[in-house]
Amino acid sequence: MKKILLMNGPNLNMLGVREPDVYGRETLASIEAEVVEYGAQKGVQVDCFQSNHEGALIDKLHEAHEAYDGVVYNPGAHTHYSYALRDAVGSIDTPVVEVHLSDIDAREAFRAVSVIEPACIAQIKGKGKQGYKEGIDALLAWERERGSAAGEGAR
Ligand code: DQA
Repeated sequence: MKKILLMNGPNLNMLGVREPDVYGRETLASIEAEVVEYGAQKGVQVDCFQSNHEGALIDKLHEAHEAYDGVVYNPGAHTHYSYALRDAVGSIDTPVVEVHLSDIDAREAFRAVSVIEPACIAQIKGKGKQGYKEGIDALLAWERERGSAAGEGAR
């Protein structure tokens, strides 16, 4: 796994200002820098993308099919209703890990449902920015498991 896309959906550009009791006071830029550094330690290039627009996020996922080996994705509120983004995740071969800063199961009832999760290889929630790093780890583990499964098949 050489290149990973860290993608954040709507309102996550407001981290640091937005509901600090829930999301903390750190900005997205600061979190992104830390995740990029974490990826570098693991030998992976991490590129970052954030948008508040569903179509731009869909286009980026389509691009990821060719351009990235994995995606760590916080879909924000799109998590709970965007079948278009779920289908975009399902349209690409690139594995996607869904990440949430907060524990979506422990908040309002509407947040407990993710329509994106079934298309992802894993979901990580409630671990703050650490979840993005665990997303990278999950992609690397997925690749290792797939590699060893392919090796077994070849024998
Ligand atoms: C979020 C949880 C969502 O319910 C919310 O709409 C967000 C952020 C999280 O990271 O905890 O925008 O995805």
